[in-house]
Amino acid sequence: MASSAPSKTMLWGGRFTGGLDPLMVAYNESIYYDRAFYAQDIAGSIAYARANTKLGILTEDEFQAICKGFEQVKEEWASGQFEIKSGIDEDIHTANERRLGEIIGTGIAGKLHTGRSRNDQVATDIRMWLREELRKIEAFLVDFLKVIAARADKEIDAVMPGYTHLQKAQPIRWSHWMLSYGQQFALDLQRLREVIKRVNRCPLGCGALAGNPFGIDREAVAKELGFEDLIYNSMQGVADRDFALETMQWGSMLMNHMSRWAEDLIIYSSGEFGFVRLADAYSTGSSLMPQKKNPDSLELLRGKAGRAFGQMAGLTMTIKGIPSTYNKDLQESVEPLLDHVKTVGDSIQIATGVISTLDISRDKMRAALTPDMLATDLADYLVRKGVPFRETHHISGRVVALAEKSGTPMDKLSFEQLQGIDARFEPDIVESFDYEKSVEMRSAIGGTSRSAVEQQIAVMKQMLEGQ
Ligand code: ARG
Repeated sequence: MASSAPSKTMLWGGRFTGGLDPLMVAYNESIYYDRAFYAQDIAGSIAYARANTKLGILTEDEFQAICKGFEQVKEEWASGQFEIKSGIDEDIHTANERRLGEIIGTGIAGKLHTGRSRNDQVATDIRMWLREELRKIEAFLVDFLKVIAARADKEIDAVMPGYTHLQKAQPIRWSHWMLSYGQQFALDLQRLREVIKRVNRCPLGCGALAGNPFGIDREAVAKELGFEDLIYNSMQGVADRDFALETMQWGSMLMNHMSRWAEDLIIYSSGEFGFVRLADAYSTGSSLMPQKKNPDSLELLRGKAGRAFGQMAGLTMTIKGIPSTYNKDLQESVEPLLDHVKTVGDSIQIATGVISTLDISRDKMRAALTPDMLATDLADYLVRKGVPFRETHHISGRVVALAEKSGTPMDKLSFEQLQGIDARFEPDIVESFDYEKSVEMRSAIGGTSRSAVEQQIAVMKQMLEGQ
């Protein structure tokens, strides 16, 4: 290196000292974030060493020394004692091997990496770490959905306005609203279980790119490390960050659902709506306005959706143009992934906290229902009397117009006024001006009647069980 470094007399030579530019050292090193994989890196090395022992590359004693040495390294990381040597410990792989060498001697530690490359090593570490994180996220998501199911069951009697275009549309059950998102999140759960399968495949033994020259038993290594399957092409094994990208695509979709869910609740918690009231644990006050109670938790969920998506979009751009197999660009997959996974995991837990502690106001929900929201029910009433829907739609529209013009709520119009619009209205029309009846009429699968909502709860519970 020294000979090729620019000399001090050169115009641009000032920053170069004969080694790497100090900024380049910092720019290149990943140890300050890939240390997150220390335990996976050690587990991978031990499985790899065991396989190499079977091949006679390591003796049984050497293997035991490696295991014992790594026990200490792991303990140092776990207790915060591990001393990172800045400028030497470039990444978690070099750091662990350097420390192992100090403990058991470089004579043995130096054999560990036989046939292996950091290229298959790092892909293995990230996959192992990620599958554990995704399993935690799976459990968080199951908890979230259980809370939604329990609330939907308990508060099935609460009726509120349903909206399209954020305009009052038709009465729905509050539970029906909760389950609308519950269904989306339950599908996220199904997708997640698929993603985990593809993450959990083992690239160890792919070497730098071309494979392992000593006939390592990759299946045994994968089995020891808890992988479900192998990566079957060594070049793909070191090139592939699709498992990270797919995770973030998955997380972006989940956060999209989260963001819309949060937005609904922000609206419902506003003074103008007042359908829900957030627990103090998930709101904050204003430093200036004493009366304020702000839904910060929900705003952060909405905001962090943008961040999660950004990490996914960033990695897509990082990967899109790089040539075959390993390139250092791939190191740039780690930080977005760490951040994304933390954001998604935390967000689901916060959402669970919010939904399990908020209070609803049945009164405010009911007070927001207006008779015009029953205009469709009026049209449906005449359909049941044999009038074609296109016609009933117009008739009901005229009722709405009369109510507006006369300043009388639709349900307070006299029977004579209704008959004046269409003679086919009969005295039983009064029964249509009933929000309960309106929701109960929608009893086909997926509707907002009690039985249809109960069925949705049952379906969601089955999805949790993996059915
Ligand atoms: N720290 C590197 C990464 O995260 C490890 C692989 C380095 N491999 C190499 N050939 N330089 O991608």
